[in-house]
Amino acid sequence: MQDITAVILAAGEGKRMKSKNSKLIQKICGKTLIEWVYKAVTEAGVKDCIVVVGHRADQVRECMGDKAQYALQDERRGTGHALMAASKYFMGKGGNLVVLSGDTPLITPETIRYAVKCHIENGCPATVITAEIDDPSGYGRIIRDKEGYVARIVEQSDASSDERLIKEINSGIYCFAVRDLIEALSKVRDANSQSEYYLTDVIGILSCEGKKIGAVKVRSSEEIAGINDRVQLYQASRVMQRKIAFEHMKAGVTIIDPDGAYIDDGVRIGADTVIYPGTFIEGETVIGEDCVIGPNSRIAGSVIGNGVAVDNSIILESTVGEGTRVGPFAYIRPGSSIGKGVRIGDFVEVKKSVIGDGTKASHLAYIGDAEVGRNVNIGCGTVFVNYDGIGKYRTSVGDNAFIGSNSNLVAPVAVGENGYIAAGSTITDNVPDNALAIARERQVVKEGWVIRKGRQRKGKD
Ligand code: UD1
Ligand code: CA
Repeated sequence: MQDITAVILAAGEGKRMKSKNSKLIQKICGKTLIEWVYKAVTEAGVKDCIVVVGHRADQVRECMGDKAQYALQDERRGTGHALMAASKYFMGKGGNLVVLSGDTPLITPETIRYAVKCHIENGCPATVITAEIDDPSGYGRIIRDKEGYVARIVEQSDASSDERLIKEINSGIYCFAVRDLIEALSKVRDANSQSEYYLTDVIGILSCEGKKIGAVKVRSSEEIAGINDRVQLYQASRVMQRKIAFEHMKAGVTIIDPDGAYIDDGVRIGADTVIYPGTFIEGETVIGEDCVIGPNSRIAGSVIGNGVAVDNSIILESTVGEGTRVGPFAYIRPGSSIGKGVRIGDFVEVKKSVIGDGTKASHLAYIGDAEVGRNVNIGCGTVFVNYDGIGKYRTSVGDNAFIGSNSNLVAPVAVGENGYIAAGSTITDNVPDNALAIARERQVVKEGWVIRKGRQRKGKD
């Protein structure tokens, strides 16, 4: 496959998506449509990839970076016109080309490899990947000749009522012998209902010249689904989501409901972990073994150790150590590193902080821009006051410190090892190791005040 070049058509407006953005950067399980196609092509062994860009070319280029070479189609005049725009890259080359639509994200490397193999073995000028589907509407139909060879492809809008009944459709993925392609492309005209230069006409042109067109019919029509609108985007996401979930399940992960777990491509999960519904696991996330994740949680770009429980919580771009429990209703924001055996309980927010092993913040706390040591107890209602309206400041808390409930640690400030903060304190000065700090008004008790003032409250009886 080394000597084969792939061309991905990605210049279209994608009108049916009703978006200001390029259709090709819509995502399925964490990857854009074009990235999925590119992944299939490279996994099939193709090294060189040309992407035809036009509508929102900036977005497609940004998404693909230097993985591909780009050809600009400056006017959108159809798929044939798009391929012509790339012709300078393959014109002199000879050999074969794989052409794909950027909106066919479920295509597999196996199918591409198989189609290329058939194409080369049979020495065809062109080979089309086709499928039989129950509802062919929207797709180009495959017209076969008496001998069963592909004679031409007719687009839905140009098809007769009889042709529309045909259930074999064009996937929009082809292999071409470069020489035949270039010749036929020059003969494509735009005399059709959409006044476009159809790439599909190349097939009819070659066939008319007496050349035999190859066809590879895929067994599962799912993989050639073209994504034109948001319903199709959802349908393809579902297929991919199940595929990813089933792979994890086969590798030992329990997923209570595969339709309710949204796991991006590339996420790694250890065996015996259980994923509850309503859970999103995104980006380059790695989850260890024996974890319980969800329900209703989101973990993005994070590394989670073994035996971690995450319940109704959000963890973004952070690491969480073995045996730690997060939630319910906790929010761990980017840049945090949570140790082993930590407890981050309900309504606790952690931002850009390091939390040492065995530390507990069991409820209602904000920990921001902090270094917290091991085995620290952060009482209910503690606030790390990291922002003075202009700048952000850091707080450090030593090992084994005890932060009493409803305390404020006004940064920059440091609490030493074994430091002890009395409940309700507002700490503005450093607290040395082993010291107690109390920073609140002393309590005043006025004996008999209620009676003297006649403030007894009466029951209703
Ligand atoms: C196309 C095929 C149809 C096939 C279907 C499979 C043609 C004429 N029709 O129809 O037979 O069944 O795909 O999904 O080829 N593009 C450009 N420049 C353009 C127009 C399109 O780069 O000027 C790109 C689009 O970005 C897209 C791809 O080509 O990635 C296909 O275009 P689209 O408009 O989706 O074609 P379909 O109508 O789906
Ligand atoms: Ca399409």
